[in-house]
Amino acid sequence: MYKISELAQKVNLSRTTLLYYEKLGLISSKRQANGYRSYSEFDLQRVKLLQQLQAGGLSLKECQACLEAKINREQLLQRLQTLDEDIAQKQKSRELLSSMLGMSSMRDWHQATDKHAPSAHLDWLMTQGFSEKQALRLKWLSKDMNNHEQYMREFEFIFDGLDRLGPSSTGDAIKALSSIPVKTGELLEIGCGKGVTTIALAKHTQFAITGLDNDEYNLSCLKEHLGQQLSLNKSSSLEPARPPSLQQIELICASMTDMPFSDQQFDVIWSEGSAYIMGVKQALESWKPFIKQDGYLVVSDLVWLTDSPDDEVQQFWLDAYPDMASVASRQQMIEDAGYQVVDSYTLSQASWDNYLQPLQQKVAQLEDHVFVSLAFADLQKELTIHRQYLGQYGYQMFVLKLRN
Ligand SMILES: C[S@@+](CC[C@H](N)C(=O)[O-])C[C@H]1O[C@@H](n2cnc3c(N)ncnc32)[C@H](O)[C@@H]1O
Repeated sequence: MYKISELAQKVNLSRTTLLYYEKLGLISSKRQANGYRSYSEFDLQRVKLLQQLQAGGLSLKECQACLEAKINREQLLQRLQTLDEDIAQKQKSRELLSSMLGMSSMRDWHQATDKHAPSAHLDWLMTQGFSEKQALRLKWLSKDMNNHEQYMREFEFIFDGLDRLGPSSTGDAIKALSSIPVKTGELLEIGCGKGVTTIALAKHTQFAITGLDNDEYNLSCLKEHLGQQLSLNKSSSLEPARPPSLQQIELICASMTDMPFSDQQFDVIWSEGSAYIMGVKQALESWKPFIKQDGYLVVSDLVWLTDSPDDEVQQFWLDAYPDMASVASRQQMIEDAGYQVVDSYTLSQASWDNYLQPLQQKVAQLEDHVFVSLAFADLQKELTIHRQYLGQYGYQMFVLKLRN
């Protein structure tokens, strides 16, 4: 027999708890002649059994029910499910903490955060010490704070020697130009990359062109291409279409989010496959002041071309470009932002071929190369998606006139 203090010591509980258990009828004492409570070996074991049940996460009430009657399977199953959910949640918290400490990638977290709070996410990345350029590339490419630099090095290594960073063609650019009545003045190309479109625009128009990109390396490739074009045109015995002149193209390394230009400086702003970087809605609004009255904006953007995409492709773009919209809803956004849609067409297969064929060849060449980051795997996945599902989505060119 045990006195209450002895029982309390054996089960590592307080006297008050034991008295409470007794009140619930979980244990029962006998009064000794001196009035002290005494408990049996059976009571000790009941408390130990109770503790074992509590270790399964059951509440005291549930434990009591288990002790007094047959186990209620339904209730236990429910309890198990709640526990599994708690564990999954705790596991997520653990993963997040460990990735914040640099022990693993935060990919899923970045992807999910970007879907629900894109601006706050970008802001937070900059608070963590990333420049705006790095933060934007992290958001769209690496999605990994801890391995971002390695990812970007490998991404640039894959794209080295490839001129197009997205689908485009001279044919599609000329098509857009044909619906713009303004033929001279100033044209700004935003996100000009390595300059394939910049050079095509210089060849086929009279505009003084400014190419803007925030990547020095891309701009240096553009300069090199310009140099090659000039010497090609000089040595050609054929009459050139119209040589692009270096004087006609000015290059500026700056961010599309903070451009060093005057109000109403440009007759035309042109941006292929780049507006999504800061968000199409924001681009439409923040670029507007730089366009002259009666000026034009030409943008291309990835859009859904079907209302019922296959699950796999829908999920892929939901992760990679959560803001991707249908043509109709982009047009609505454009009109709401104060532009009139002058022309809108889906980029041709030739535009995709210009981009995908060299990239596919490069990826095949690098098949045996060892990559540390996910840059190569991500590109392979994207190429597979294009191969299987291109047509359910595509790039749409929008030729827009500023509404007065
Ligand atoms: C998808 S690529 C398109 C490039 C080019 N228009 C083409 O079709 O090949 C996006 C381009 O935007 C540039 N870029 C990314 N963030 C930028 C920013 N904040 N400001 C200016 N350019 C940016 C990249 O360096 C890259 O050249």
